[in-house]
Amino acid sequence: MWPFGRGRARKREELPSVDRLPQHVAIIMDGNGRWAQARGLPRIAGHEAGMRAVRRTVRAADEFGIRVLTLYAFSTENWRRPREEVEFLLSLPTRFLESDLPELKERNVSVRVMGFLDELPPHTRAAVEQAVAETEGNTGLVLNFALNYGSRREIVYALQRILYAVRDGTLAWSDVEALREEDISRFLLSADLPDPDLIIRTGGEMRLSNFLLWQAAYAELWFTPRFWPDFTREDFLEGLRAYAERERRFGALGDGGRR
Ligand code: IPE
Ligand code: IPE
Ligand code: MG
Repeated sequence: MWPFGRGRARKREELPSVDRLPQHVAIIMDGNGRWAQARGLPRIAGHEAGMRAVRRTVRAADEFGIRVLTLYAFSTENWRRPREEVEFLLSLPTRFLESDLPELKERNVSVRVMGFLDELPPHTRAAVEQAVAETEGNTGLVLNFALNYGSRREIVYALQRILYAVRDGTLAWSDVEALREEDISRFLLSADLPDPDLIIRTGGEMRLSNFLLWQAAYAELWFTPRFWPDFTREDFLEGLRAYAERERRFGALGDGGRR
C-alpha cells in the first residue's frame, strides 16, 4: 500500500459519501500563465508549477476514490502559442511520466491518453504510449490525459469513421437510419470511458474551450478563480462537496418535483 500519512482517516471524513462522489472528474487546468505573470516569472514557470499541481491532484483523486480523472493538458488550439511555449508544454508529459510513473504504478493507476497523437513530438508520444502500455492492466484510478485534444475535431473524426464504415460495408445504409447516441459515443476518443460527471475549470474563465462537448451534455460544471498551480487538495474537495449538493435531473423532475 502507498503510505498516505496519518491524516488519511480524518481527510476521508471530509469527503462526501461515496454515492455522492463523481465517478469521472475532468479538469480544465487553466491559469498557469497568469500565475507566473503575477510573480514576474516567464509563462513556462507557471507550466512547471502546474506539473506539481498535476501530481497533487492525481494523488488526491486516488485517495478520494475517484474512478476516472481526465486532465486537459494541451488543446488542438494550443499550437497557436509561441513555439518555445508549445515545446515546453509538450515536454511536460515526458518529464512527468519519467518522474512519476513508478508512483502511479504503485498506486495501481491506469494511464490513458486521448487526443491526436500523430502530431505530437515523437518523445512525447513515446512516453505516453509507454506509460499506457505499462499500466494497462492496472485496476485503480484511470488517469486520462487529454493531449492535443479538441472536441470538435474529435466529432469530425467520429463522423469520418462512421462514413468510412458505410463505404467499406461494415455499417449498412439501413443501419444509418437506426443510428443512436451510443453509436456516436462509441466512435469518440473517449469511447470506453463514462461521460464526465463533474468538470472543473480553474483560472476563473467560464468556458469549455473545446473540451468534451458531446460528453459534457449533463456534466455538472464547477469553476474556481484559483490558478491551476495553486490548486490544492482542499480546492478539489470544495469542488466535490459542491457536486455532492447538486441535484442532477437529466431533464426529469428530480426529488423536488415528486411532491
Ligand atoms: C493552462 O494555463 C495550460 C494550458 C492551456 C496548456 P494557461 O497557459 O492557459 O494559463 P493562462 O490562462 O494564460 O493564465
Ligand atoms: C484550455 O485552456 C486548454 C487547456 C487547459 C489545455 P486555454 O487557456 O487554452 O483556453 P482559452 O484559450 O482561454 O479558451
Ligand atoms: Mg489559459
